[in-house]
Amino acid sequence: CSTLGIGLAGLGTVGSGVVLALQRNSDLITDRTGGTVRLKVAKALVRNPAKARAADLPADAITTDWQELVADPAVDIVVELIGGTDTAFDIVAAALKAGKPVVTGNKALLAERGTELFALSKEHDTPIHFEAAVAGGIPIIKTVQESFVGNRILSMTGIINGTSNYILERMANAGLEFSEALKEAQDLGYAEADPALDVNGWDAAHKAILLATLAYGFSIDPTKVYVAGIEQVRPIDIEFATRLGYVVKLLAVVREHDDGSIEVRVQPSFIPKSHILASVHGVFNAVAVHGDAAGESLFYGSGAGQDPTASSAVADLVEAARSLRQPDGHRGFLPYKEAGALVPVEETTTAYYVR
Ligand code: HSE
Repeated sequence: CSTLGIGLAGLGTVGSGVVLALQRNSDLITDRTGGTVRLKVAKALVRNPAKARAADLPADAITTDWQELVADPAVDIVVELIGGTDTAFDIVAAALKAGKPVVTGNKALLAERGTELFALSKEHDTPIHFEAAVAGGIPIIKTVQESFVGNRILSMTGIINGTSNYILERMANAGLEFSEALKEAQDLGYAEADPALDVNGWDAAHKAILLATLAYGFSIDPTKVYVAGIEQVRPIDIEFATRLGYVVKLLAVVREHDDGSIEVRVQPSFIPKSHILASVHGVFNAVAVHGDAAGESLFYGSGAGQDPTASSAVADLVEAARSLRQPDGHRGFLPYKEAGALVPVEETTTAYYVR
């Protein structure tokens, strides 16, 4: 089979993980796809070519010019892992316009500017894949989009920011200060480049917005989402929770009300120690999806970090490669409704705990 070239924008934690995963498992992928898919990094975009990295690529495969990366004829699929919503937007938009499928782990980009990008995706019949954007290595996007396609989704509730979960636990169990626990999470490669997004709840909110868009088919206005992060949690809150038999977790909640309106919110919540979500430790994530047919299923796994997130990006790369090999129409996600009702923020600000 001929090789498909990847244009990899970003060689940070996750980008390096993609290179390493492909170096380890590219033959396996080719075997598993019946010899139809062979993937190779053709070009990688970095800010500083002199910087030493976990994953090495030949010097002629490195560029600092994103336009060169997207335009390179050897690049068939563009992987966006630089984060942020400006240059990342330009890269994704240019790739879609060039008919090159996109794989991204950028939840902020899709939650804030997804409407424009999904419109381009539709216009150019070129998919955007984003399994790596939500819950690291857990295949939650495919689950909601494909496995639950025959269900009305009643709710999705879970822990979807590994950094917050890690910090809360280290504060509760090791008596660490907030800043010390955050530093550990950063050193372990869990936190966003801008860790404010982890601790102010917006990283989890971006992910909840994407899950809601998948489940209900329309873009969610971020200003209609109630967001409170763990930066508001003080040691005394954790102490009271412990005394009362609870743990504090940052919970994301997406649910459909009886009138069909959708509520999306993120906030620190009291969870009884006996509840299954109380056992989600460290950087792990868990999402309980409640479908009208399937009932409740819990998806649990590594929510952040190099290898788990790279695992999801590589799965999307294979999906993108398959769509290039066997085009049978658009294989990515597209919102299918213009708009829908959202529960106003002020109605979602009450204290929340799981029974
Ligand atoms: N910073 C994110 C987290 C990375 O901690 O969950 C995974 O999206």
